This record gives sequence, structure tokens and C-alpha cells, in this order.
Amino acid sequence: MKYYLTTPIYYVNAAPHLGTAYSTFVADMIKRLKKMEGFDPVVLTTGSDEHSLKVERAAQAAGMNPLAYTTRMSAEFISQWAKLGIDYDHFIRTSDPKHHETVRWLFERCEKNGYIYKGAYTGAYCVSDEAYVNDVEPGEPCPTCGRPTETVTEENYFFKLSAFQKPLLELYEKNPGFVKPDHRRNEMIAFVQKGLNDLSITRTSLQWGIPAPVEGHHVFYVWFDALISYMSAVKERDLWPADLHLIGKDILRFHAVYWPAFLMAADLPLPKQVFAHGWILHEDNKMSKSRGNVVRPGPIVDVVGADALRYFLLREITFGQDGTFSYDALIQRYNADLANGLGNLASRTLTMIHQYRGGLIPDSAGSSEIAETARRTTELAMDEFSAFNFSRGLETLWAFISAIDKFIVERAPWKLGKDTSSFAQQQLDEVLYTAAEALRIICAWAYPVMPSSARNIWIQLGMTTPIESITFADLHWGKLPAGQKIGSVAAVFPRLDASAIAKMEHLEVQEKARQAELFGTAKAPASPAEVTESAKISIDDFVKVDLRVGQVVSAERVKGADKLLHMKVDIG
Ligand code: MSP
Repeated sequence: MKYYLTTPIYYVNAAPHLGTAYSTFVADMIKRLKKMEGFDPVVLTTGSDEHSLKVERAAQAAGMNPLAYTTRMSAEFISQWAKLGIDYDHFIRTSDPKHHETVRWLFERCEKNGYIYKGAYTGAYCVSDEAYVNDVEPGEPCPTCGRPTETVTEENYFFKLSAFQKPLLELYEKNPGFVKPDHRRNEMIAFVQKGLNDLSITRTSLQWGIPAPVEGHHVFYVWFDALISYMSAVKERDLWPADLHLIGKDILRFHAVYWPAFLMAADLPLPKQVFAHGWILHEDNKMSKSRGNVVRPGPIVDVVGADALRYFLLREITFGQDGTFSYDALIQRYNADLANGLGNLASRTLTMIHQYRGGLIPDSAGSSEIAETARRTTELAMDEFSAFNFSRGLETLWAFISAIDKFIVERAPWKLGKDTSSFAQQQLDEVLYTAAEALRIICAWAYPVMPSSARNIWIQLGMTTPIESITFADLHWGKLPAGQKIGSVAAVFPRLDASAIAKMEHLEVQEKARQAELFGTAKAPASPAEVTESAKISIDDFVKVDLRVGQVVSAERVKGADKLLHMKVDIG
């Protein structure tokens, strides 16, 4: 049976950051889990949302034509996802002509069924959210994101969203799993119960969009264009409806109200589930480009690896709720759970097998008590992971790691190793087999979350089947073959100290400058070190500061100096 899941398609006017990487990481993990569960094929799509006013403006600001700009930016997403080890199947770009055909096809189906009409509209529009905003005066801030709105008057084509109030409420009622988590579903019910306004789905004021098949110049509203990308991404394959749309909570209304309404209007099957996760916060706010508080995944991956970052985000944040990122918390989790936890269990187990059994897995059934704990752990972890309680699922697995650590300490194999009696040697076989078999099961569970580290330990354990092919059936106790030769031991998660944070912060400054250059917004810092140095001042210095706004009239190089500019500034 197939399983088709999607990430949102990302606006290309901002570079990928931890917030946008989060949906993508989780989607990649669910893909691997669903494969383990036996779904086949499991298909994951992602992509870039390239139209919209804000992308058009960003291209203008960068002095590029929109297609050249979006081509460059989507390439940046593709290369970042590769760096993060994301295993997606299709990357859809909304500038792709095949997608344009699908958008027009959707429009024509809705039109044929009587859900499209021409009308005029004047209202407050939030460019950042790409949505009209009700109940605010012109220029007032958008109630969702707080940025100023603009007044827009247009003669557009409208979608009769108002006709779908009842069908949508029925959908939420009959299919309570359609929107998850439950509290988000309740929000959608409340929103729809208030009544739905028809939706303007074409624009005449911008050029950069998909031309609508109507008279005159109309391009499609970006959300009418973007949502159907989930279908155009897999048009050649028989995969629709999607089993899961994974999104952030800020775009739930588009997925849980507009999207099913478009599909109902076009007589098309609905996706099975929309799951809205929370936000990654940094410095107390949603991480976003406009707030200027983004942290980029690349530098973190360079220092601690993509797996550690994935583990941190999944373990630290209750999926569905907001959670905070900080470098300190990342390093603490890494050392406690990965270096001291899983990494230590792997190296001590494998080292003992080399030391006491010449690198061969001993012949034993292992401890029946631990076998039972493993069975219960798998049962619990399965429940938690299928309910998308990833943090609790990982907690369960790490409790199992602690149980094995305790078991090893209690059985003291280092003492058994010195005792040559056959009883002691049999006991030693049991301890070593138990630790190795537990490690195999933990590795299999860790694989969807930390694919490359789990693969690494799997190979050290001497497993010959690729870890990518494991299924839930492989999680049963006793599948580790006696006599298997293990590989050489290498630390998978070496301990980190505070210098790792300094390294990440330093690389972050460089990465920020690289992306600013790429996005055409570079202010050309003299050197990353200087930026770090000048980024903060003490409170004592701050009170001495006299800030004024002025206009730079001229700036000239000073002969003989390579870092000095002579500036004339008009401060009125
Ligand atoms: N282009 C639309 C989605 C169209 S899907 C048909 C869009 N793009 S976005 O780039 O602004 O956001 C993409 C996703 O990233 C959204 O799910 C959003 O919630 C998520 N995130 C952006 N910042 C985030 C955090 N700080 N934390 C978690 N997720 C966040 O919306």
C-alpha cells in the first residue's frame, strides 16, 4: 500500500532556516518510519513556492528577473536539503510549466462546477502572509503576523468559498483525524463556523504568476497556485490523495479550509490528514527572516552533524507545540543523550565483544528480562511514533538505553571476563549478547531519526542487511545472529565542549553573509570576525550611545588606508 506525504513548498524569498528545515526533517523521518511499517512505495515531495508579490519584490530588490531569481533560490533549498540528508522523491517548482497546466486544470474544473465568478474587491492585504485580512482598517497591522497591511482594490475572479461552510464542518465532524492535533481542529471549526467569505483567486496587479485562462491579464493568487502543487508533484504517478500534509500552524487555514474546498469544488478526493506542527522559537520569538532571528542549519550540521540536530528537534520539542532552540540546549542534549547515552552504549558493547569474544557475537538467547523490556519498549515506541508523539517515543527508547546500561553495570562483565569457569563464561555470553541485541534494536529505532549515525553503528555491529531495508518485524528480540563478526569500533558521537558553540556561531555569521550575497541583500561585512565583535556591546557602553538617523551623502576611500572610508553624513 502506498503512503504519500508532503512538506509545504517554501517561499524562496528567504533562505532555509531551522524553522523551515523542521517540517522537512520530520517529513523525512516519517517517510523512513512508514517504510519500516511496510508501506510501499512511500513518496515524499517538497518544493519551492515561487510566485507571489513578496517573491516578485524580492527579485526586484535583488535586481534580477523573477525566474532567474527563483531558479537560484530553489537551488539553494535543494543544496541545503541535500546537506541535511533529506530523502525526498520529487522537488516541485511552481514555475514549472507542468505545474501551470495543473493549476489551470483545477481552475477549469471549479469553474465548470459553478464555483468561480468575476467580481470586484477592496480590502486590506498582508503581503507577508499573502492573504486578505478582514476587520482591519487600511494600514493597520495584520492580526496574524503584526506587519502593516496594504489596501488593495482589484477586479478579480472569485472562488465561492462561502458555499463550503457546511461541507467543511461535516468533513471535520465525520473525519476527526483530518486536522491534527485536536486543538488545531477546534480552531478550524471555530473559524469556519463564523462564516466564510468568497476568496479572490486571481490578481491583476502583479506580473509574476501563472496566467489564468480568462480574458485580460489575470494571474492566479499564490495560494490557489501553491496548494495544487501537491498534485502536480505526483501527476505522473497514481498517488493522489496524499496521506499526509505536514505543515506549520501558521498555514493551517490554507490547508484545512481553502484546500479541501478547492478539491470539493473540483470533485477531487481530499487528502487524508493535515498535521500542523508548532514553531521553532529563538530569542523568545518565532524564528523568521523578517524578525532577523534565524539560525541556519548548515553551520550546526558542520559542527554536530545533521543527525544530532534532528534528534535535538524531535526530542526537545513536543511535536505540535512550539519549542525553543538554543545552542546551549543542543550541546547539553547531545552530550547527555548521544555521547553519553547511545554513543557510549555502542562503543562499550562493541569494545567488550572484541576484547572477550574476538569480535564475534556470542551464542546466547540473552537475558529474558531484557528481552521482555525490549518487547515492551517496541510496543510503546510504536504507539508513540504512530501518534506523532516523537519526543515521548524517543524518551521510551532512551529509557531502554538506561536499562541496558544498568544491566551491564549490575552484571559487571569485566569481572566475569576474569573468571574462566564455564558458568561465568556463559554469563558473559549472555551479557554481551543482550547488550549487542539491544543495541541492534535501538539502532533500528534510531534509524528514521538519525539515519546516518544509526547506519554507522549498524555496520559496526557487523550487520550485512542494509539498515534502509529494516521493517518492524526486525525489531523482534533474537534476530542478531550468533557468530556474526562485528566491525571495528569508532566513536559515533564524540563529546563536545563549549568551543563547539563558538564554532557554530562563527560559521553562522559566514553562512549569513554567503546567503545575503546569494539573495542580493548583502551589506558586505568586512569580515565575519568583525561582525561577531561588533554585534554586541555591553550595557555600560550602550548607555553612552547617541543614536541618530542620517543620510550618507558620500563615502570615499582614504588614500593609504585599506579599512578607512571618509563619509559625509547629513543629520539635518
Ligand atoms: N509557501 C507557503 C507554503 C505553501 S504550501 C502549499 C509558506 N512558505 S514558508 O516558507 O513561509 O513556510 C514554509 C513552512 O515553514 C510553513 O509550514 C511554516 O510554518 C514553516 N516555518 C517557517 N518558520 C517556522 C518556524 N520558526 N518554526 C517552525 N516552522 C516554521 O508558508
